[in-house]
Amino acid sequence: MSRLEEARKYVRQHITPDEDKPRFHVTPEVGWMNDPNGFSVYQGSVHLFYQFYPYRDTWGPTHWGHVKTKDMIHWEYLPVALAPDLEADESGCFSGSALTVDDQHVLMYTGASGSGERSRQNQSIAFGDGLEYKKESGNPVISGESLPDGFSVQDFRDPKIWWENGIYYAIAGNLNSYQLGQIVLFESKDLKNWRYKSVFAENDGSYGRMWECPDFFSIGASQFLIVSPQDMEARGYEFHPGNNALYFPGSFDRESGKFNCQEAYSLDYGLDFYAPQTAELEDGRRILIAWARSWDSDIKPAGQKWNGMMTIPRELSVVKGKLFQKPVRELEKYYKNHLELPGYEIQGANEAPVLHGRCMDLTLDLSGNEYEKFRVSFACDANHHTDFIYNRTSGMVEYDRTYSGVRRDTANGRKMKTNHNGGNIKLRFVMDYYSIELFVNDGEQCFTATYYTPRQADGICMSCDGKAVVNIKKDDIIA
Ligand code: FRU
Repeated sequence: MSRLEEARKYVRQHITPDEDKPRFHVTPEVGWMNDPNGFSVYQGSVHLFYQFYPYRDTWGPTHWGHVKTKDMIHWEYLPVALAPDLEADESGCFSGSALTVDDQHVLMYTGASGSGERSRQNQSIAFGDGLEYKKESGNPVISGESLPDGFSVQDFRDPKIWWENGIYYAIAGNLNSYQLGQIVLFESKDLKNWRYKSVFAENDGSYGRMWECPDFFSIGASQFLIVSPQDMEARGYEFHPGNNALYFPGSFDRESGKFNCQEAYSLDYGLDFYAPQTAELEDGRRILIAWARSWDSDIKPAGQKWNGMMTIPRELSVVKGKLFQKPVRELEKYYKNHLELPGYEIQGANEAPVLHGRCMDLTLDLSGNEYEKFRVSFACDANHHTDFIYNRTSGMVEYDRTYSGVRRDTANGRKMKTNHNGGNIKLRFVMDYYSIELFVNDGEQCFTATYYTPRQADGICMSCDGKAVVNIKKDDIIA
């Protein structure tokens, strides 16, 4: 049996029952998931692939899992699309992207092979019809040997492919001779023969080391480069430590093949957000999706057979040159039990939950100046709570999942400095059983985190050290 058939059979035989899974976030049917891949529109559906190792709940030689959707909330699982079944990708079909060319769906991915000094990462392609994908016989189509001297042939991965004015372009993450991340650019006329063009962008050492999973796109006249740096050091409250995800506004000069990077911004301040990728929908919306997990902490319960999930797809818009993110508007189709509590006063330490639920879209619009700290706690019962604390004078939002039921001594807290407006702040929380995504002030800043509190813990408690006035709006999500 081929490795692809073997993986498909294993998945069919080990699917996790639906009731144990998040309702509208993409998760693996069984086993391990990391980065989103090949996020694209093909024949009227939005396709998403992902780094997938079905056989256990930790990373292994990655396959490409596959789902598709019409509305980005309900996802249909499709058979595994790629398996590491060639010598050139024996260590994994690593991350990559997709493009529709005529009636074909083209995947470009990194084939990883060998180990130690002999390890190699090269770029390969596969052609498909939305269900079955065939690897090109001339793979790899871009080998590390085509890079200039001194560029790493071992760290060379995660191609993002696009087409512009008759030319195919691909950018990929790479290490330069100083062991710092850079993004390299290739060009092709036919998808099969590629030519090295230039260093598209480079890390001067200010943003971690290796840059993984680049994405390049335009929204109107604005252009952006997303990268996911490894080994990042925080700068004040920006760029939290470890694996990060940030974007540079800038502009691409086709002649020189260079992207001129302006100042970088964080894409998300949470504990679980990495390797984001975007797609453009047929209606012109630019949608971002990311892996909602951290490489550095494993907090899921031991018996859970699936590990990793995606964020909710987010609509991107540009406000004064910066990216704003909002949950896709299709979420509203799944609203149930609409509740509004305008001018709700929160005073002192309340034990009793104000609300209940684990799967919802909740907005807390805070005003008033008779308090310093406001706290909202989710997934509460006698033993558990996961908190967001807003400090009105500093504008800091602090997250704490220490008491969510974690069993490992892992990162549980993080702070995000907001642009608060005289103490008024709008906090929109999208929750799906085990994840929470906070959108501050209509998507100006985001914070993604997972927590695996038993589902029965569904209290939402609020307290404050004075009196806060909150406009509460809540819709359950039944998806
Ligand atoms: C990012 C990453 C990619 C690589 C993939 C392997 O999370 O390290 O650079 O292609 O994961 O699974």
